[in-house]
Amino acid sequence: MIGRDLLGIEDLERDDIVRILDTAARMREIGAREVKKVPTLRGHTLVNLFFEPSTRTLSSFEIAGKRLSADVVNFSPSRSSLSKSESILDTAQTLDAMDPDCVIVRHKVAGVPKRIADVLDAPVVNAGDGAHEHPTQALLDMLTVYQEKGRLDGLCVAIVGDIGHSRVARSNIYGFTRMGAEVRVTGPPTMLPPTIETLGVKPCSSLREAIDGADVVMMLRIQRERVEGALFPSIREYSATFGLDRAKLRYAKDDAIVMHPGPVNRGVELSHDLVDHSPSVILDQVRNGVALRMAVLYLISGRASGTRASRALTPGGA
Ligand code: CP
Repeated sequence: MIGRDLLGIEDLERDDIVRILDTAARMREIGAREVKKVPTLRGHTLVNLFFEPSTRTLSSFEIAGKRLSADVVNFSPSRSSLSKSESILDTAQTLDAMDPDCVIVRHKVAGVPKRIADVLDAPVVNAGDGAHEHPTQALLDMLTVYQEKGRLDGLCVAIVGDIGHSRVARSNIYGFTRMGAEVRVTGPPTMLPPTIETLGVKPCSSLREAIDGADVVMMLRIQRERVEGALFPSIREYSATFGLDRAKLRYAKDDAIVMHPGPVNRGVELSHDLVDHSPSVILDQVRNGVALRMAVLYLISGRASGTRASRALTPGGA
């Protein structure tokens, strides 16, 4: 996979996903060592190009790169020449001229990582773009489920919340369906796209219907600042109808796990009790995020031979 971009789960074959998850499972062991560092990417340079705030994704890409001995540069938009009207593409090409081995991009607008990837020689990883995709989040979610259940094929995964605006939901839908899981989705009607069935999922009209007999219940973050009053009447009503607590969780399988990509609105999507205690695996997701991102950097970091333009002319090129 050296030199390939990772822009979305939609682009990945089942074998690609298996390879990334297998590699991540091996990377996990490095995080348990006293000295959490291996020389695998010594001499490589990684650039985190985040135009939108992040705690988990930014920190875990940085830690992942450092555990592999890469040099990691965290680009800060507010301290850059973007404030002097330099364009995003010019900024990205300027950084690319310094020969990084991988550029990791987050932006609030869908498609920006692809636009940047189209003009860079370094491989680009999408760290979340608008409501489009968040591929490494879905991969770490699949890794966490595999760790808990020993398989993905045949599981029932319920995704609850703002399905229409969630890049996490979209990437997980592509990922889990490709790996043979049944995926159900639910949320307020204003948050369920009418064409969602075309992605191979089952839309459900209630939380109870969605989680009935489910192995995995994945709760999504409500963007309170954006949608209250627009897509549902109030936070209180959302929480009563689509929030999860231990009483409602009884409809899922006895050994069901509860997931959330974070950051959590405590008491809205999830009761405080479920955020902090089993069967919630939220902090395991975070922990697996480092191993998963180590695997991604290991598999794709490095420039394929030739420039992107010349590779594009080569049959079978990246
Ligand atoms: N899950 C996720 O993307 O979290 P951050 O916004 O903190 O990176």
